[in-house]
Parts: sequence; structure tokens; C-alpha cells
Amino acid sequence: MSLQAEQEQVVAPRAPAPARAPAPARAPALARASRAAAGEPDGAIGRALQPLNTARLRDDYQSQGSFLYLADFLPADATQQLIDAANALLPEVNRNYLPGHKAGGSVSRHTIDRLAPYIAELYRSPQLIAWLEKITGDRLQLSPEDDPHAYALYYYTRAGDHIGWHYDTSYYDGRRYTVLLGVIDESSCKLDYELHTKDPNKADEPGSVQYPPGALIVFDGDKLRHRVTPSLEGEVRVSLTLEYVTNPNMRPWRRFISNMKDAIAYFGFRQVFRKAFGGKA
Ligand SMILES: [Fe+2]
Repeated sequence: MSLQAEQEQVVAPRAPAPARAPAPARAPALARASRAAAGEPDGAIGRALQPLNTARLRDDYQSQGSFLYLADFLPADATQQLIDAANALLPEVNRNYLPGHKAGGSVSRHTIDRLAPYIAELYRSPQLIAWLEKITGDRLQLSPEDDPHAYALYYYTRAGDHIGWHYDTSYYDGRRYTVLLGVIDESSCKLDYELHTKDPNKADEPGSVQYPPGALIVFDGDKLRHRVTPSLEGEVRVSLTLEYVTNPNMRPWRRFISNMKDAIAYFGFRQVFRKAFGGKA
């Protein structure tokens, strides 16, 4: 089996996205309601989408071979929620090393479910899913409960952490989309990619981005060839991946391959085979 396939993402330094303009003064009750709304991921997504020209971004996504990059997407308060979660989950990071292909740390959706509900709720944001459906042109579904990649954090915290060239191959019967959100980037890591590699009518088009906290990338996992370049001593980079599918069915043999890959390359056997271990994460 090829461990080349699969998950992962991206990079980027720079300070968190600048705070939005302060809201005008309101009556206390309304201000409280507004603060509560600001704390909800779906509300943050609503604010993120407001200034976007989705029709134009849809065209960009298509012309780039099912790839889109937005350097400034999440509002600053939502980005800060992700940064806080990434720091809080540091003790939960599972380190993996695949000689010649990958080194880094991961925190799976199972751990996030226990300790970082904001991320689990962000993944299910109705406004985010509806917008992604407009961009991709597909009806999207959540990844199954037992998929540790459904939402996961990836940590680059040691010199040489990286992932080599790969696709986020779909083991599902349908397509698999990857959304990357920049969380922390105090690194020189770059997400290198090649567009159109599966399109015989277009020349391959290389690109590279160092995506900052709050940035968003979305792509069809089977179409974008990509890698993350190695981090240097003292650097830290954390990104959040969200995975959506068009058909959550997976045939047993593919399930086995996918589970083995996830256990070895990402989350460890205990996280991936939770049922066999009595359901403990
Ligand atoms: Fe990847």
C-alpha cells in the first residue's frame, strides 16, 4: 500500500488576521447577545463570508483545478479560539515519523471531541458547509464518526518536521475535500503544490504558499499534489484540517488500508482502532 496518500496540509507565518472594525455601541442586552454570537463558530463563519464574492471565488476554484486559497478568512476571535485549542492540546500530540516521507505530530478528531468542542462545532458549521458546496459544486457530507481525519490538528514542532509530495487520496466511494485553516505559524514551512496534475489538457502549474493564521485553503484531495517543506530548529507551525466527503461509504479493504495508514502515519493504533481497544481514545 502507498503511504504517500493522505491528509495533511499547510503552513504559514504572520500575525493573526487583523481584528475587524469594532462594533458600534449597543444596548447592554444586545451587546451580550452579540458577544454570545461572536463565540459561536457558525457566527464567525457568517462574518467571514460576508465580504466574499463567492461567485468569483467559485470561478477561481474551477480555473485552478479544484483549489482555492484565501489568505485572510477567519475573523480574529475565531482564529484565537483555534490558537488556544492548539496550545491546550499540545500534551495530546501523537508524534509520527515515516523515513523519507513524513515527520510531525497529530491530534485526531476523537481527542478534539473530548477537549476542543469549538473545533468540532466549527467543522459542522452550516454556513461553512453551504459555502463549500457553492465553491465545490458538490453536496457535501460530514466524514463518518470513526474517521480520525474528519477534523484534526497537525503540528510541526521539531526541526525537519514535514510531509512529502502526496495527494489526500479519497478511500471513500465519493470525493474527499480538504479544508486547511492556518492556526499557528512561527515557521519557514511552505505548502508547495501542483495544480492540474490529473488534467491531461492543462500543463502542471506549481505554486507555493506560507499560509498565516486565519487563512483558508480548500481543494479536492485527489487532484492537488502537495507537500509541506521541513521546519527548522525552534520553529512551530500548527494547522487544522477539515475533511468533507460526497459519499461516506468505504469498502472494507479500503477501510483496512486507510486505518493502517492513519495508525502508522498519523494518530497511532489506539486512536484509530478505538473500538478494538474498548472505545478509549
Ligand atoms: Fe495532504
